[in-house]
This record gives sequence, structure tokens and C-alpha cells, in this order.
Amino acid sequence: MAEKRKIVVTSALPYANGDIHLGHLVEYLQTDFWARFQKLRGHECVYVCADDTHGTPIKIRARKEGITPEELIARSHAEHLRDFTDFQVAFDNYHSTNAPENKVLSERIYAAMEKSGAVTSKTSPQLYCEKCQMFLPDRFVKGECPKCGAAGQYGDSCDKCGATYGAEELGHPVCTTCGATPVVRDSEHLYFELEPQHEYLEKWIPGHTTSDVSNKLLEWFKEPLRGWCISRDAPYFGFEIPGHPNKFFYVWVDAPIGYIASLKNWCEKNGKNIEDYWPSDGTDGDVELYHFIGKDIIRFHCLFWPGMLHTAGFKGPDKVFVHGFLTVNGEKMSKSKGTFVNARTYLNHLPPEALRYYYAAKLGGTTDDMDLNLSDFVQRVNSDLVGKITNIASRGGQMLQKKLEGRLGAMDDEGLALIAKCREASETIAKHYEDRRFNMAVVEICRLADAANEYFDRREPWKTVKTDAEATRVTLTAALNAFRIIAIYLKPILPAYADKAMKLFGETEWTWDSINAARENCALGEYEYLASRIDGKQVEAMIAAATINPGDSGEVSHESRASKNKAKVEAAPAAAVEVPALKPEIAFGDFEKVDLRIGKVISCETVPKSSKLLKFELDAGSLGKRTIFSGIRGSYADPAALVGKEVLFVANLAPRKMSVGVSEGMILYAGEPGVNGGILEPLDSVPAGTPAT
Ligand code: 2FM
Ligand code: ZN
Repeated sequence: MAEKRKIVVTSALPYANGDIHLGHLVEYLQTDFWARFQKLRGHECVYVCADDTHGTPIKIRARKEGITPEELIARSHAEHLRDFTDFQVAFDNYHSTNAPENKVLSERIYAAMEKSGAVTSKTSPQLYCEKCQMFLPDRFVKGECPKCGAAGQYGDSCDKCGATYGAEELGHPVCTTCGATPVVRDSEHLYFELEPQHEYLEKWIPGHTTSDVSNKLLEWFKEPLRGWCISRDAPYFGFEIPGHPNKFFYVWVDAPIGYIASLKNWCEKNGKNIEDYWPSDGTDGDVELYHFIGKDIIRFHCLFWPGMLHTAGFKGPDKVFVHGFLTVNGEKMSKSKGTFVNARTYLNHLPPEALRYYYAAKLGGTTDDMDLNLSDFVQRVNSDLVGKITNIASRGGQMLQKKLEGRLGAMDDEGLALIAKCREASETIAKHYEDRRFNMAVVEICRLADAANEYFDRREPWKTVKTDAEATRVTLTAALNAFRIIAIYLKPILPAYADKAMKLFGETEWTWDSINAARENCALGEYEYLASRIDGKQVEAMIAAATINPGDSGEVSHESRASKNKAKVEAAPAAAVEVPALKPEIAFGDFEKVDLRIGKVISCETVPKSSKLLKFELDAGSLGKRTIFSGIRGSYADPAALVGKEVLFVANLAPRKMSVGVSEGMILYAGEPGVNGGILEPLDSVPAGTPAT
């Protein structure tokens, strides 16, 4: 293995005054995949996080509930940690910003900032609500953006045009707590001046984040950098600023310092020296530091934070990894539509593995928003995780247990070739993980599962088991060893699943290099269920539980929209062509075996000497290209006209050898009554390879 790395990784600290929801999990899950991957590769990786506890909202909420802020944050800490644990997010330490380590560190970093001359004091006009008797924090006031005039903007920045400004610059401001119009009062505040670090930060930014993020940030460098106000007035739950009675550190000062505090706390619990993990002597040390954040908090992590760390002589992040927001069914999460789903609500209805798998399958390490399409979610979990991957172990494992005394044999050349193919993918998959292209890692893993299933089906062990037990054992040994490698590759995404798989093979520890071992001529453990199918009904129940005042804003409810979508897809494939009479009834279980996908026609041509056949090349998305021969030439005078159309096809039909070539699936058609085979109307905005409902 390459040199052992020492890595510290963080996710943004969730506010203590809110529940963890599926949007948050986009970040915690991807950080967890990445940290677990590093550990599996044999590196030392410490994943720290904490609750972000300070600010006015905590104070106000605690007051409303009749408890102290400390009681409130203790409750949140326990709830957050339980949610994360149940989602299998494995922090090495989950701390709090309201901790002694953080107070000491905040005071120390602030003292260094003051000493460097970067802290200035200015008396500035602030919005004050006379009814609430307090200066209004940025998020407690709304008004018109001073730059573009957009209404309903908060006191720090405009959602519409991206401008940043002071709350007192807002037009027609309103206190969001009581609705009163605030007045302007003078208050003295402390500022962290960034202009002295103009050049340093301008150089630092491009190498420490992706180009889209850094280009945006660098626009601010065309002008002198504005000072950042780092103090807040009482009432405030936080750390008082030494030497400035009644002034508190703005929450965004001590929140990122909470990363160091959590790491320090971990060091203390584990007999380590913080200087080895987060040096403060002006060097970078031999440790790598990475922050995972959402795109809404770039300014804090790529400007103020490196500025603070640099001033105080602390190591800065090696990279800031920025991700996008979560949309559900293509739209912003919405409480009235029931798509603003808390972690706990999800867990009450669905298994954590399903979301972990789906998020991994969608996350590509970019700042693009990620969509949780609920019907695609059910489909993909069922067809890929359960139907494709888990199926290898359940079919192979159960047959071996029931019919062949649960003993693995040795592999033959064909089996060894399958295993070699699985091993060859190792570095490609590792590179995808390293670069946070979890979606591509999943594509590669699914390809291996396809190869294992293809091998399994070709060898027909369910037939050979009746006549040749030993040949069957050879087949199952290879299929199960392929599954074992696949499960190792999946371990960062599905840790509990991989642990169960590991037990099946009678092993106690897996590292990435365990793919190089094979399990032959030994007993297989008891087959324990690994993953089960999920049902649209579970999703519906979750949405119903998450729905607050359905229909109150005149929005279409999720349920009715979901059923409309369903109707659209189901209406399309009426019957396969050349099936005039009704076939005998099939059980639902038979139907469930059919993996329907959408593919895009790349080319379509006639087949020499055949009056019936057309040869299709389909772009089947994650499945790659498929060649399918279809007996519908009679209905299409101009096959080229089909190019670019999207068609529904059976993706898991066993490949069929025909005189003209191998057909890898079957395209489905729907026609007008009495008309033979009309092509489907293109289904809009469905990526090729997407499973159909
Ligand atoms: O945006 C947020 O949810 C903040 N609580 C993140 C803080 S991250 C860090 F800097 F502490
Ligand atoms: Zn007020």
C-alpha cells in the first residue's frame, strides 16, 4: 500500500436549535463515505464534528420552552447523535461549541488576531427593536435588498442577487420576532479586518477549493476586502469577548474553532497531542485537513476562516469540499408537501442503508444540487442494491447452505476470471472514492455485480444442482467470492451491510486489500438477510408523517403529484408487440423480477435479409450501451426516425443469441388499439438508464 496518511476531516457543525433532516444528511453521509473509505484503505483518518450551539436563536427558543440554553443544547446533542448513529455516521468525536476547549481556543485565536492589529472597533448604526428590547441579529430582520430591491431579504445577504450588506442598509426593515419596525441605534462593534490578508487569501483560495467556487470568491478581490463584524450584543448565548464586557463572539467566530475543539477533545480522550493533528506553530505538519461544507457557507470557510487561522499561526484546510443542496422530486424541500423530512421521520419508515446507497449513487463531488426523486429512490434500491447486488449472495448463499452443506469449494478458470475482473476494478473504484465521485464508484460496483449475475445465470446452478453437486459448488464459490469483493468495495457506503457479509464469510476484519484473498474450501456462515426491498407505501407513509398542514399554501400535495407521475409512466407500455392473446396470469412476484429501464436510441437500422427485425443501439445510462434486435420493422418505414427517442426496455432479460447477433434486452411498445406497435412518446427529462416505475 502507498504511504500511510494522517487525515482530519470535518462536516459543518449543525445548529443545536434544529433537527437533523435529509438535507443535512447529504453532507454527513458523503463525509462518512469518504472517511470510512480512507480508514478502509489503511490510513489514519479522524472524523470530527460538534453541535453549533451559540447565538440568539438558542437563547430565544430556550426562553420560550422555559429551560436554560444549556438544557436545550444537551437535549439536541443527544438527539443529533442518535440520528447520526442510526444512519451509521461514525464520527470519531461529536462535541459541542459550548465546551471549555472551545472557549480557550476562541480566546487564544482572538488574542492573536487582536495582537496582529487586525481587530478594529467601530461604532456603527445597528437595528434595534424597541418592542423586543434588543439589537437585531441579521437573521432576525427582513427587508428590501439595498442593491436589487428584492423584498423579504435577511439582514446580511440577498438570496436573489447575492449582495452582502449590513442590516441597517435594508429598505423597510421588519423585526421577524414581533413585526415591529426597528430603529437605528449606535453600537460599538469589533471587526476582523481582512484587507491586510488580501494578497494572501487571493493566492490561497484557488488551490484550496474547486474552480467554480474560487472564481466566485475571487470576484470580491477586485475591491478592498470589507472588515467582518465579529461581535454581538447581549442577549446572546455564547462566549463573552475578553476585555469587552457585554459583547459576545459572533457565532460564526467560535463555530469553526469548534472543529479544533472537537479534535482537541478527541486527542485528550485518546492520548494524542493536538499539535500532531492541527499544528499551531505556523507549519502544516504531516496531517491533511479537509472540510466538507454546503455551498451556502463558502464565505465563512474560504475567506474568514483561513484568514483567522493564518493570523493565529494555525494550519489551514488543505481543501474545502463544497456540495450543493438537496431537492426532493426536483423541488426545494417543502414542509407543506411533506418533503422536508427529518432524519428520525425517515428512520421510522425506511432503512438507513437505502438512503446511504441512493445518496452515494447520486453524489458526484460537485456543487450541483442533488435530487432525491422518491420513485427513482425506491426503484434503484430495489433493482440495484437488492435485485442486483444482494441477489448474488442470497441466491448463492442460500443454495450453498440448503443443498451443498454450506461448504465453499475451489474456483475454476472461468470463476477465477470473474474474480480477476472484480479485482482489476480496485484502483478505478478507489480513485472515484478519493475524488468523491461516489456515483461513479457505484456504477463500477454495479458493473461487477452484472458480471457476477451473468456468470451465475449462464452456469444455471439451479439446474446443475440436480445433477452435479461439485460443479455447482464451483459455480457458487466464484459467485460468492465475487460478491465478497463487491461488499468490500461497498463497505464505506454500507458499513453494517458489509459487516454482515463479512460474517457470512467467517471473517473478522476487512481492509481494502482483503479483495486479494479468496474464500475457498471452507465453510460459509449462516446466511443472514442483508437488505430487503423497500416499498412505495413506506415512502408515502413517511411523506404523510412529514406533512405539515397539507395544502395550506395551495400547493399540489406530494401524494397527488406522485400518483400523476405514476400514471404517466404506467400508461405508456401497454403490451409487447406480437402478443395478440392474453398470456396466463402472472404473480406480482414474477412481475417484480422485470427490470424496466429507459434507454435512448443511438442508432436504429434494418437487418440484412430480415423483413421483421430492426437493430437498435441504446444508450442505457449507467448500464452502458445495449444492442437489441426488435421484430417491428413492419411498423417503421424509416428506422432512422427513431434515433433520439426514449424507449422503455427490459434490462434484465437474459441475452438471446440470434442468427444476426446477440440481443441484450427487449424494447416495449404501445400502439393505438388495432394498430400494430406505435413507438412510445418520448418521456421527458428522464436520464437514460433510469429505472421505470
Ligand atoms: O450553517 C450551519 O448550519 C452552521 N451551523 C455551520 C457551522 S460550520 C462551522 F464552521 F462550524
Ligand atoms: Zn421585535
